[in-house]
Amino acid sequence: MRILVIGSGGREHALIWALRRNSTHSLELFCAPGNAGIAQMAECIPAGVNDIAALASFSEASGIDLNIVGPEAPLAAGIVDEFERRGLRIVGPGRAAARLESSKAFAKDFMRRHQIPTARYRIASAADGALGILRSGEFGGEAAPVVVKADGLAAGKGVIVAASRSEAIKAVEDLVGGAVNADAARRIIIEEALPGREVSLLLFSDGKDFRLMPASRDHKRVGENDTGPNTGGMGSITGAGILDDATRDRVVREVVEPTLQGARDEGFPFRGVLFIGLMLTADGPRVLEYNVRFGDPETQAILVRLNSDLCEVFQAISETRLGQLEIDWSDEPSACVVLAARGYPAKPEIGSVIDGLALAEQSGDVVVFHAATSRGPNGEWLTAGGRVLGVTAKGETLDLALSRCYEAIANIQWDGMRYRRDIGRPEGPR
Ligand code: AMP
Ligand code: GLY
Repeated sequence: MRILVIGSGGREHALIWALRRNSTHSLELFCAPGNAGIAQMAECIPAGVNDIAALASFSEASGIDLNIVGPEAPLAAGIVDEFERRGLRIVGPGRAAARLESSKAFAKDFMRRHQIPTARYRIASAADGALGILRSGEFGGEAAPVVVKADGLAAGKGVIVAASRSEAIKAVEDLVGGAVNADAARRIIIEEALPGREVSLLLFSDGKDFRLMPASRDHKRVGENDTGPNTGGMGSITGAGILDDATRDRVVREVVEPTLQGARDEGFPFRGVLFIGLMLTADGPRVLEYNVRFGDPETQAILVRLNSDLCEVFQAISETRLGQLEIDWSDEPSACVVLAARGYPAKPEIGSVIDGLALAEQSGDVVVFHAATSRGPNGEWLTAGGRVLGVTAKGETLDLALSRCYEAIANIQWDGMRYRRDIGRPEGPR
């Protein structure tokens, strides 16, 4: 079985690790473009994630049996449609379904059409319109928090939870002034700010049936106690405390089923991984966003709990027989702590020598996923991006999982290494 994973981060390393770990097939794994950590487990192919033609040609020429897409950009650009047009097997949503992530305006209107609970919103087609909505008082006065979102893909930079109306006005000005690319900011969504606790629910879907993954939570702000700018994610946890069974069942009824049914009704049955970002409010669960792919770093924490063969899951999706498959997860909670470079997220420093990696990996309870590393001339490990490593473990309790991560981290060091000591700890840094 030859599998190509498309992407280059910690998420893709975790996918490749999980494919290998429980496989009942003999696997040949490829990753495009991958990274130095991934290169220990898969052959890395020098093709960018957005070079759809090159990826498809490689897949064709190499007889790849199954293609798996990590990041959102190629999905939004229609990689699945193109691979399928060429008769190549690929797991992921087509361009039409990917609009659930690639256009927040589309996603909000979709939720309204299917009565899926979400924050009250308005869509503006230009900055003037957005400012008009804010000034009208429809979302409260100066002291009211309000959320401003760019419509399109913006790598985590398109959403501003503003504490006041003047902050929201500034956010609109920044978005149209170049904080995100002009195309992403052509439409702007103004949204009611929801109080509550966030949870991410990911699921596999083959267009007909679905299977939930363990609920997870990530930590988006760069600094401890949720301070500083938003990032791709500084850590993640899974565990029973994140989403109780009754609320999970309610989310399935009110969100998961109507979303998948809505996608079928609108002619784009969802195939792949759907990530539902939720706010648990006093009035019930509300959808904050859809992602049409695995999250990073949620995937790392989720996949260390997978006991089933991931290859089998992807095959079942591509053959529309997920309904016949039971997926087995460990009951143990898990955590992933991201080690980032100085300057992340604005301007990460790269090229620092990483010490202690081998020592950190010696404990069999911990897996270190590489998000951005390279090898120096003498084989030393170097940092190669903002998020560098994701130290991941499970344990009988969340606390044990976290202790395993932090004990392993104590061995790792580079000039400028940064991480949050409060992952999974609402009570504050350890
Ligand atoms: P999104 O990309 O839409 O998930 O937004 C990124 C982050 O912004 C979310 O994970 C939340 O922390 C926050 N957020 C988005 N929408 C809202 C909202 N309506 N109320 C409160 N926080 C929000
Ligand atoms: N961690 C959030 C995401 O992958 O979008």
